[in-house]
Amino acid sequence: MCGINGYVGEREAAPIVLDGLSRLEYRGYDSVGVAVLQDSGEVSIHKRAGKIGDLSSELTDRWPTGKQAIGHTRWATHGKPSDANAHPHADCTGRLVVIHNGIVENHQELRRRLGDEHTFASETDTEVIPHLLENNLKDGMNLADALTKTMNQLEGAHAVLAMSADEPGVIVAARAGNAGGIVVGYGRGENYVASDLPALLPHTRNVVFLDDGDIAVVRAKTVEYRNGGRPVTREPQEVPYDPVSVAKGNYKHFMQKEIGEQPEAILDTIRGRANFAEARVDLEDVQISPSRLGSIKRVVLVGMGTSLHAAMIGRHYFERIARMPAEVDNASEWRYREPVVGPDTLLVSVSQSGETVDTLAAMELARERGCLQVTICNGIGSQATRMADGIVYTRCGLEIGVASTKTYLAAITALYLLACHIGQERGIIDRERMGGYLEPIAHLPYLAGEVLARGAEQEELAHEFARFDNFLFLGRGIHYPVVMEGALKLKEVSYIHAEGYPAGEMKHGPIALIDPDVPVVAVVQKGDLRAKMINNIEQVKAREGTVIAIGVDGDDELEEKADRTFYVPETSDLLSPVLTSIPMQLFAYNVAVRRGCDVDQPRNLAKTVTVE
Ligand code: G6P
Repeated sequence: MCGINGYVGEREAAPIVLDGLSRLEYRGYDSVGVAVLQDSGEVSIHKRAGKIGDLSSELTDRWPTGKQAIGHTRWATHGKPSDANAHPHADCTGRLVVIHNGIVENHQELRRRLGDEHTFASETDTEVIPHLLENNLKDGMNLADALTKTMNQLEGAHAVLAMSADEPGVIVAARAGNAGGIVVGYGRGENYVASDLPALLPHTRNVVFLDDGDIAVVRAKTVEYRNGGRPVTREPQEVPYDPVSVAKGNYKHFMQKEIGEQPEAILDTIRGRANFAEARVDLEDVQISPSRLGSIKRVVLVGMGTSLHAAMIGRHYFERIARMPAEVDNASEWRYREPVVGPDTLLVSVSQSGETVDTLAAMELARERGCLQVTICNGIGSQATRMADGIVYTRCGLEIGVASTKTYLAAITALYLLACHIGQERGIIDRERMGGYLEPIAHLPYLAGEVLARGAEQEELAHEFARFDNFLFLGRGIHYPVVMEGALKLKEVSYIHAEGYPAGEMKHGPIALIDPDVPVVAVVQKGDLRAKMINNIEQVKAREGTVIAIGVDGDDELEEKADRTFYVPETSDLLSPVLTSIPMQLFAYNVAVRRGCDVDQPRNLAKTVTVE
């Protein structure tokens, strides 16, 4: 969601900030703005609905000059996308500016309290912040103290940046709750602040992720931190990413690149963790004693979107590998139920970003109830990784395409390893059984590459099917979440209506939809459920439906049953979702490209959802 970027140093700030924002475009946005503290001592604000490129073109030949700027990409929550509602927002003097991520939940009451002497120029909740700051500054405070006081007046979760013409050389940043992160980047004689790493990587890899309640006072040569009104020390860490990893290279889209990177992502997730020689799984960031793991009676998995689908697959792993009772839920539903959990529950959260507001809230609830927590996460230093007792990083590098692909397959792989590890530590998996689990995972990266090599067939399929407006995806068992994800991918990037169903549910409603204009994508795995899936395909065909079957190499009978087939290589039943997911990603991608959709930044979607 909203992107935040700020710069203070010796160079012209506006182009740096806009360039940084363009590297955050993937987060999703509908308007953009930048405020520059000009050399003349005035603040100059430029903002509009639309894309960053539109703003840059508008500024051609009249770039505001100044060595300090803050910029924002907005994803509308309160107030439609418009020039006036775009950030930055100013106080009455126009000398103080603010950008914000989050929702000021008590903004109406605050507006009322601010009274008639403050004039508002937008419909946003954010605009109360500069006006509150303005009042607090009148009490003789400096900007950092005024922001500390202001943050205490706001309800909800927030990430805020502010600067004032009356305090040149300073940008103050605050993080309260889980409205997305703030990262401070350390340069030489210049410093940066951003909501996410890609904006910083062209300049620095030395960063500090703000903790909940932190305020950072960022100057060109120094950064000071405080929390709860007291100074705190935050040591910069070096993040293991480089700018090249966030470049598109020769690919047309990030989604295409990231689908192609999946064999490597799986390999990186396994590397150093699966010990094939000793038949062990050791997870460097899950240092939980066997006795604590032994005290766990059940596992609850939570996530949102694609991460929820990975969690649904993970449930099978905990049941079948670790032999533990496991359930899975959408984090935003789970957090508002009254879940009966406690110290004997293991909460496994799955989140690419580690910043999804509902997943963090579920983790918070689990923490209050004393649950043990492990998070499967890609976002290094993210809030989820700071809340959990154990972490399995998916080590994918940054994922830029809004629709998750490589982090999904890596999360499935990580969940598999976690279930193996926990089963091992609880003493229920002997060496021989562990060997059986590890053997197929060794081949998985190669087999994922094999599926990608068959991508040309997918392009043909997309060519044929891009004209349809409704799709049904059917699967059983461990492939039920796979088809949920297949349908989600198609929906997200091509705006085609698609539903994923457990195939056994088909006769309870979805069958009414079947006709030649609603193609059905069916995953047919080997084993007990194969015959059932074939029956479902027959039922679709009997109603003149069109079936695209995703099957396993060697299952030639499928050719007779389905209209189109796509085969993936054989692997173990438990790991097969990794392979059957890839054709669906390719299908969604190719269909979206044929339909001319904005694959990497689908309308209305955001990469990291920091509001409820
Ligand atoms: C958004 C993204 C999805 C993602 C979901 C959960 O909806 O567009 O791709 O799956 O959030 O995000 P998380 O970072 O928690 O995995």
